[in-house]
Amino acid sequence: MNKSREVRNILITGGAGFIGSNFVRHWCQTYQSSRVIVLDALTYAGNRANITDLEVTGKIKFVQGDICDRKLVDELLLVENIDTVAHFAAESHVDRSILGPGAFVQTNVVGTFTLLEAFRQRWLKQEKPQDYLFLHVSTDEVYGSLELDDPAFSETTPYSPNSPYSASKAGSDHLARAYYHTYGMPTIITNCSNNYGPYHFPEKLIPLMCINILLGKSLPVYGDGQNIRDWLYVEDHCRALATVLHNGKPGETYNIGGNNEVKNIDLVRLVCQLMDELAIDIPVKPSSQLITFVQDRLGHDRRYAINANKIKNELGWVPQVTVEEGLRKTVQWYLENQDWWQPLLSSEYQSYYQQVYAVAT
Ligand code: NAD
Ligand code: DAU
Repeated sequence: MNKSREVRNILITGGAGFIGSNFVRHWCQTYQSSRVIVLDALTYAGNRANITDLEVTGKIKFVQGDICDRKLVDELLLVENIDTVAHFAAESHVDRSILGPGAFVQTNVVGTFTLLEAFRQRWLKQEKPQDYLFLHVSTDEVYGSLELDDPAFSETTPYSPNSPYSASKAGSDHLARAYYHTYGMPTIITNCSNNYGPYHFPEKLIPLMCINILLGKSLPVYGDGQNIRDWLYVEDHCRALATVLHNGKPGETYNIGGNNEVKNIDLVRLVCQLMDELAIDIPVKPSSQLITFVQDRLGHDRRYAINANKIKNELGWVPQVTVEEGLRKTVQWYLENQDWWQPLLSSEYQSYYQQVYAVAT
């Protein structure tokens, strides 16, 4: 393998969110020599507390701001002498994109464009432009939905996004790709499957099930529960992204996945079993009694599966955490960190919950 890229000053957007904060932590623990600047707007999904310990110990600098703010982004790239961008910031929840797609187009498309264009202007002026890299973190949802017997998504699978969320991510992927092909700006795109682990916002399937079990609330499973997702423990994703930052080839796309296809209903049952085993006291036991099939998500993709052979063969990355191990750690984390998730069940969250689940629960 060629010599690794050196990352001196890295700008991490969305570093107060779920994957972003796990990545910031992983990066600071593993690569102490680079300076880390986090840019995050702290939307409902961003939580500065996720990375406060790193901020107070001076391991990162945190800037609250919007990726659509060109002046701020220009200034940060210049003043912090940024050579690498790891771009996580996004509106990320499919159900919210169905309720209100506008914010998704703004942040995911316009925000990514703003960052790409600001980075291009900076990169153009450098003596060693090959030392610069823009990593665009994306999703497997851009490829659309698979039938049960279809082969898994590969990097050459045509895009076919079905939700406003995935369409906005597809738009941003196309822009990142175009910046490489048109201008030669070093960009890499990664498309990853469903992550899970610590700091996952309560609206997403796994934390929602853990929290509802603890509160004795029903566990809403959309449709017939037979939809399939490929699950990857978030630390494995972070390791993959660090590998791509150091050894990925500009202009390339890498699919990242856990090789863990699970039906939603089976996953929810697994969470119930773990909760029954690990929680000292829960209102309803066995908690699987709380499972309720509810109205399906509009346009609900049936199956996602990732072929991650390219990143394995070219960069040597493979996932290390099994779904059994990762789920156990995750359930334990939600049990031990009630102080983290309780405040997130705010009135904004309750009103969102009402809108999505009113018919359901
Ligand atoms: P998240 O919703 O937990 O976090 C998003 C973060 O971005 C938040 O901290 C939020 O405050 C910030 N943000 C939102 N709009 C912003 C703006 N305009 N300016 C600056 N910051 C803004 O999302 P996540 O699950 O951590 O996902 C991170 C990235 O990874 C996203 O790009 C998502 O598409 C991608 N991804 C997620 C998954 C998954 O399973 N969660 C899988 C594959 C890819
Ligand atoms: O595939 C990667 C994507 O995974 C990321 O790009 C997204 O940012 C991330 O949110 C996630 O999207 P999903 O829609 O797959 O995740 P979610 O946790 O919302 O739902 C997982 C599955 O569970 C999905 O099939 C819908 C179903 N579900 C979800 C919720 C919240 C339910 O059955 N009930 C629920 O209450």
